[in-house]
Amino acid sequence: MCGIVGYTGPKPAAPLLLNGLAKLEYRGYDSAGLALLTPQGRLKIIKKAGKIGNLVAAVKKAHISPTITAGIGHTRWATHGHPTDRNAHPHTDCGGEVAVVHNGIVENYEKLKKQLQAKGHHFKSQTDSEVLAHLIEEGLKHQSAVHSRQPAGKAKAWVEAVRWALSQIEGTYSVVAVYEREPESLIGARAGGGGLVVGLGKDENFLASDVPALLAHTRRVYYLDDNEMVILSPSGTRVVSVLNGKPIPKKVSEIQWSAEQAEKGGYPHFMLKEIMEQPRALEDTFNSRLDLGTGEVLLEGKFWSSPFVREFKKITLLAMGTSFYAAMVGKFLLEKYLRVPVEVDNASEFRYRDPIIGKDTLAIVISQSGETVDTLVALREAKAKGAKIAAICNVMGSSVTREADGVLLTRAGPEIGVASTKAFTTQLGALWLLTLHLARVRKAMPPAELKRKARELARLPMMVGALLKQRKAVEKLAKLYAKYFNFLYIGRGIQYPIALEGALKLKEISYIHAEGYPGGEMKHGPIALIDSKMPVLAIALKSSGVYEKILNNMAEVKARSGKLIALVEKGDKLAGKKADHVIEIPAISEDLSPLLSVVPLQLLAYEIAKLKHREIDQPRNLAKSVTVE
Ligand code: F6R
Repeated sequence: MCGIVGYTGPKPAAPLLLNGLAKLEYRGYDSAGLALLTPQGRLKIIKKAGKIGNLVAAVKKAHISPTITAGIGHTRWATHGHPTDRNAHPHTDCGGEVAVVHNGIVENYEKLKKQLQAKGHHFKSQTDSEVLAHLIEEGLKHQSAVHSRQPAGKAKAWVEAVRWALSQIEGTYSVVAVYEREPESLIGARAGGGGLVVGLGKDENFLASDVPALLAHTRRVYYLDDNEMVILSPSGTRVVSVLNGKPIPKKVSEIQWSAEQAEKGGYPHFMLKEIMEQPRALEDTFNSRLDLGTGEVLLEGKFWSSPFVREFKKITLLAMGTSFYAAMVGKFLLEKYLRVPVEVDNASEFRYRDPIIGKDTLAIVISQSGETVDTLVALREAKAKGAKIAAICNVMGSSVTREADGVLLTRAGPEIGVASTKAFTTQLGALWLLTLHLARVRKAMPPAELKRKARELARLPMMVGALLKQRKAVEKLAKLYAKYFNFLYIGRGIQYPIALEGALKLKEISYIHAEGYPGGEMKHGPIALIDSKMPVLAIALKSSGVYEKILNNMAEVKARSGKLIALVEKGDKLAGKKADHVIEIPAISEDLSPLLSVVPLQLLAYEIAKLKHREIDQPRNLAKSVTVE
């Protein structure tokens, strides 16, 4: 939530920052702004409500000089205060000398604001973030006096003022600050969620909330951990602790993603591109990990061959949103093949009860971004209770991957569309890899079956590719159903999470009210909703152990004049006859079927949203990485 960029180097800063913001727009898109450091040692602020396009127009109008080569930028997802020009970031102190951009929530901002107002500070916005600028101003007054006689005293005062300001705030944050009297140093800091990546260039350095903003410039990066502060100048970067100011060494890593992967590549929307990329994303996720000769799964890192993975007694899966639905599918697989108890928890609920987990628990956190605050906090809670943590994640170096004991990377590549698609299918692929690996090391599956499953898995990218060719048929269906205001999705067993995911995709990008239910639940209430205006999408696959039961659900819908779409196995006349319309997927074993059944549901949501002229990649009120609670 909220995207942050920073640059210092020899290049014109404004276009570079705007480009970076455009790459981060999926993190928030209700307003955006820049703070530029002029060569004359002044701060120039430009900010606008609305999409980044509005800011681009304002910057163009302002005729920004190419001699300005340092600055910061922000794209906002509002938490406190409406999305107006005034509430857009950057925020400044009273004198307009300090500017900050902030992602997160300053939980004690009301108290701080009152204290600062009592000292004469004048606030211009309704945001919690503005207190940071005024706190730094206060810090500068004090620190400038303390350090005035020392060599390099001004620079020291600037760093210490920011450090002091951060010590005053409660909450989670990523923040970047600039000071017109110290144009050579941008300061970034992080505590809790949010994510802040430092990009290293030659005579230039960068800061961003997320890697896509850096890919056009550098792939050499390091991530800030909690309570770390980076001081960035064109010639170098150094990291110190926010808590005690002591230097912290950082390990630089090389990002594997390319700049092209973060482009639309000729598609009208990132979401469609990402749906179509799924065969490649799955292929990459399996690549070099599946030994089809032996059925062995080769996972990177020592954790996967440690005694713990043979000995744990319980699994807890933790995730949010689409990743949570992947976790629900994971429960089916892990329980079935490992025969250990598996719980699935919505990560935001997990920390507020007292879950029974301990040293014998493997907690598997699933997150595309690796920065979802609820998931991160649940991870820490599980760790504090003694569990070992495995992460299924798409972003190497993200918080989740840094805090986990073992990591299984989904190699989906950058996912930019707010509605998650390829991240989901690769999470399912990763859960399969994990199941097969654990089943082998725990001797829970005979070698012949492992081999058979590994081979079935390896065929999936090709099968998803074939399925995507049905896009035209789904488009036709979308034309018939885009007019409805409500939708139900039903599934049973391993298809229940897919019903939930199908409904989520539709509601988030088309704004049609859609709910997913287990078929068995219908008679316990939801069937009251059925009439000729209520389309129901039933996932009715022959391979399912509860196929007949879902056929009964379908009959019950039709008996009440509901509109029925059935997602069926190719050639299944029985299920097909009961429905008004049919979507077919190739026959596959029940356990693997979610990887196929979800694909037409993604396409259906996409095509309906397109017909309704929705902002598919940036649906209203949403942001890609939910970094505040
Ligand atoms: C829905 C969607 C969200 C995310 C959720 C978790 O399409 O994208 O529901 O799945 O916010 O995000 P990650 O996986 O990054 O932790």
